[in-house]
Amino acid sequence: MSQPLFRTPKGTHDVLPEDHQYMTYIKKAVRHRARQAGFKRIDTPMFEERGIFERGIGAHTDIVEKELFTVSGKRDEEGKEREYALRPEFTAGICRAYIEHGMQQLPQPVELYAIGQCFRYDRPQKGRYRQFHQFDFEIIGLKDPSLDAQLIHILTKVFSDIRILSRLTLQINNIGAAESRKAYVAALRDFFIGKESRFPEIDRIRLESNPLRLLDSKEEDTRLILKSAPTLSQFLSDESKQYHATLLECLTILNIPYTENTLLVRGLDYYTQTVFEFWDSSLGAQNAVGGGGRYDGLLELFGGQPTPGVGFAGGVERMIWHMKEAGVRVPNKDHIDVFVAQLGPDAKKQCLLLIAELQENGVHTLGALGEASLKSQMGLADKFEARYTLVLGKLEAKKGTIILRDMKAGKQKEIQYETAIPEVLRLIGKSKLDTYVIKDQMGPEFDED
Ligand code: HAM
Repeated sequence: MSQPLFRTPKGTHDVLPEDHQYMTYIKKAVRHRARQAGFKRIDTPMFEERGIFERGIGAHTDIVEKELFTVSGKRDEEGKEREYALRPEFTAGICRAYIEHGMQQLPQPVELYAIGQCFRYDRPQKGRYRQFHQFDFEIIGLKDPSLDAQLIHILTKVFSDIRILSRLTLQINNIGAAESRKAYVAALRDFFIGKESRFPEIDRIRLESNPLRLLDSKEEDTRLILKSAPTLSQFLSDESKQYHATLLECLTILNIPYTENTLLVRGLDYYTQTVFEFWDSSLGAQNAVGGGGRYDGLLELFGGQPTPGVGFAGGVERMIWHMKEAGVRVPNKDHIDVFVAQLGPDAKKQCLLLIAELQENGVHTLGALGEASLKSQMGLADKFEARYTLVLGKLEAKKGTIILRDMKAGKQKEIQYETAIPEVLRLIGKSKLDTYVIKDQMGPEFDED
């Protein structure tokens, strides 16, 4: 085999046909559940002004500080230098779109969802890529614990549709409003005075820039010190406590099990009140399959009216990993129904049309219209695991017949050429014909991405 000159960049991967089957299955579940719950699809650009992410996600978060894919020095039409960044997530862009398109005029809440690639220049490792797919749900414009619960309910449905819900645990916390967090951060700083030297380097920096991040530190030394640190729950207002209690009640009504986790803070600055993650039940915090929470101050940060919001994003690659681990088999619709083999110039021309007509009728049809011998074409039909083969040799072309071979049964018969299509359609059965695209052009499933 020749050595490739180029490979995928580190932290990226090709989504090969085998994995696309999983991807399509997940997207279908997401779209289906989104439509059921009245969510509408939105696509935002893959890159935005860097400031959106700095402001929204927070300048001192890992995502912005270390992981932004930035494109600097590009000039816009007015000659102004702009800094752009590939989106590391959807929420900031969707909130920008909500304001830019005056969605506050629409009936509230506005419920949107997105599916697509995100980019984080992180150190690649298992389950952590530089380009990955997220599906994202946002409910903007209304605040109520029941909305947080409804959102979580939709996600559990998606996870259950793709058969991985039993592998996950919902971790949930309330991190309070901005004021209580400020007071808590001040108390944390006080508590840590004099203990800095016991922190590993990475957490000493966090203590300076974003002390809340210490709460979910993976460093053993930090976790030990944290055991006697003040807790966020001591600083929650009665309102936040009530909000959280009502949310937990709603989850119970919806029959959704959860684990309260007072150390869960999440790595993005825009969160207020509810935060939650779906963890791998056996691995814990590592490689969460998804996470989200409330962001009641974010739209104001972008220049909008004070507008509450709550949302969630799931990592598609991590979901696929779980599906494979759980042995979930997804339907493979890429099978070949008919292979068309031919010999001679007349037969070849006739087969060109025959293949097109079969395909148009919803039959998955392949035909290698080259010059290969009939024997090697039959070999190909075998390799593609075609159910039937139609063989049109010189003789049959002259006689107006065609050979229909049942590949599994190893039996064949010569039939009139005109009867070939109706006969194949009958054998495959109406319900198995792939007229998907034709139906979908009229239906809501048309959008395949
Ligand atoms: P996040 O927790 O940063 O939240 O990302 C959500 C999910 O995306 C993660 O749980 C993980 O499954 C997946 N993910 C993140 N980074 C990577 C990576 N480098 N490689 C593979 N998968 C990854 C957000 O993005 C928020 N915007 C969620 C949200 C929506 N909050 C409110 N609304």
